[in-house]
Amino acid sequence: MRISSLCFDAFCFFLPPALICTVCLYLYPALVDCSFPNARSGSVGCAIPGSLKDAVPTEIAPFRLLALGDPQLEGDTSLPNPNVPAFPSLRTLGTRVKRGRLHTIPFILTSAAGEVITRDIPKIVQGYRKRLDLWGNDLYLAHIYRSISWWADPTHTVVLGDLLGSQHISDEEFGRRRDRFWHTVFAGSEKVPRTVTDVSGRSEVLGKDDSWKSRVIAVAGNHDIGYAGDISEHRVERFEEAFGSVNWDIRFKLEGDGPGSTQASALEPSTVTSVAPELRLVILNSMNLDEPAKDPNLQNLSREFIRHELYRPRDMLAGASGTVLLTHIPFHKEAGICADGPFFDYFLPHEGGGVKEQNHLSEPSSDYILNGLTSFGKPENAIVLNGHDHEGCDTYHYRSLASFDSKTDEPGVTASPWQAKHHRQSASEIANNSLLGIREITVRSMMGSFGGNAGLLSAWFDNDTQEWRFEYSSCRLGVQHIWWGVHVLDLVVITFGFASLFTFLWEDMRWRTDLIVKQEGPKMKGD
Ligand SMILES: *[C@@H]1O[C@H](CO)[C@@H](O)[C@H](O)[C@H]1NC(C)=O
Ligand SMILES: *[C@@H]1O[C@H](CO)[C@@H](O)[C@H](O)[C@H]1NC(C)=O
Ligand SMILES: *[C@@H]1O[C@H](CO)[C@@H](O)[C@H](O)[C@H]1NC(C)=O
Repeated sequence: MRISSLCFDAFCFFLPPALICTVCLYLYPALVDCSFPNARSGSVGCAIPGSLKDAVPTEIAPFRLLALGDPQLEGDTSLPNPNVPAFPSLRTLGTRVKRGRLHTIPFILTSAAGEVITRDIPKIVQGYRKRLDLWGNDLYLAHIYRSISWWADPTHTVVLGDLLGSQHISDEEFGRRRDRFWHTVFAGSEKVPRTVTDVSGRSEVLGKDDSWKSRVIAVAGNHDIGYAGDISEHRVERFEEAFGSVNWDIRFKLEGDGPGSTQASALEPSTVTSVAPELRLVILNSMNLDEPAKDPNLQNLSREFIRHELYRPRDMLAGASGTVLLTHIPFHKEAGICADGPFFDYFLPHEGGGVKEQNHLSEPSSDYILNGLTSFGKPENAIVLNGHDHEGCDTYHYRSLASFDSKTDEPGVTASPWQAKHHRQSASEIANNSLLGIREITVRSMMGSFGGNAGLLSAWFDNDTQEWRFEYSSCRLGVQHIWWGVHVLDLVVITFGFASLFTFLWEDMRWRTDLIVKQEGPKMKGD
């Protein structure tokens, strides 16, 4: 049996499964149809019994937000220290040999060799393995972003904080991870430019500017800039330089004079919207809303931003407006609703005493934002997306409308407290007209260990109810091991392919030389 035909058999054996797996991996979003929920008219959809639901006309939502949670790019903190020599066991070998007597030298040498084999080499191998892991993980995350954007066609993309794996990294390491983020994981995309983020109240026509498709909106998380107790101006600056502003907003208007204008004649003239419906995106740094914060000025920026964004006078938001709030830390809720319960940890007094870690915002901070989001007394017109807990969650926050007063509803003076339930179990609260509610979606992490999750939020303006509507779905593209497995299989096939080609050429060459030798042999004898 020739080696080339063995290799070729192996190539043929592995080729079909490799082809099938690769096609499945890359077309996965299409195969399971990971797509954005379609827009449909609410009142019609509810009135029609289940069997007829398919008959309700649906269309592609004009606003489709791809929401990715906590990629947490790791880096040199998980690698061996590059300043430590590769073979520490050999460092003292010279002096040990010099000092030792002649008969002890063989013993010193064998023990050093033993240390190299049992300690140094495994460490080096582990270091390379970790590097390979990091490299593969970047490509895996890039695969998630690329394949889901290709199939689902989002109009906007957001990463909901914890872009990086640690806030305690040097500027050099921060730069390396920033480059990996933009050039590998989100290759081909760019940060939202300052000319967009630094103009308060900026308004654009939804879908008009195609560059939104290649922009990535970045939310600041604890691993990017730290918690309230360790956020510094420097960390915020380098984050904003690399990924965009931490607090900003933008509004997207629907084109035309408002799609409701045709149905508007049926409504009272006073409720007819003269302005086109607009959807507002609010990107909020919630890392330093809670006390005690290390830098009160930075904290004031976030608080002032909320006050300005969510508590502005009503007339400034005339027309049918909806809000999508994008932030990192989930709102306060009782334990048991999501994977994480309420939890706070603080630095020791001599370390500043600030917030060291938190699972949720405190109750007053959550109330402040929720009250701000409902300051029109209209439920369902705002939605909150955040990350942080990795597992993901879907919560419905509600409170009685009776005691609602947007002017006095500042933290601490809430007449009826906000309550929370899992969104799935809140059908009666959502239907109850005497309650005010906000849906909060905690997007599951996109990391491999959480299944490579992608969140898909659709928003559209409902012509019948004259309100923005939101629908959310999500898709898991599979743990990183599947991605690794398929690519290793591909590598095996490619290796066998080349091996069979080269061994064939080699054997062929050998065969020809043999032939020449055989042909020339008798001649030489005859000479
Ligand atoms: C709402 O109205 C606009 C303009 O009249 C129309 O283009 C759109 O399809 C309508 N949407 C729905 C969900 O009915
Ligand atoms: C926060 O900022 C606002 C506006 O810039 C200012 O009026 C206010 O005094 C500041 N508050 C604190 C506590 O620094
Ligand atoms: C609606 O909510 C109010 C206030 O919590 C409650 O008293 C009432 O029973 C609820 N109605 C329904 C139909 O659930």
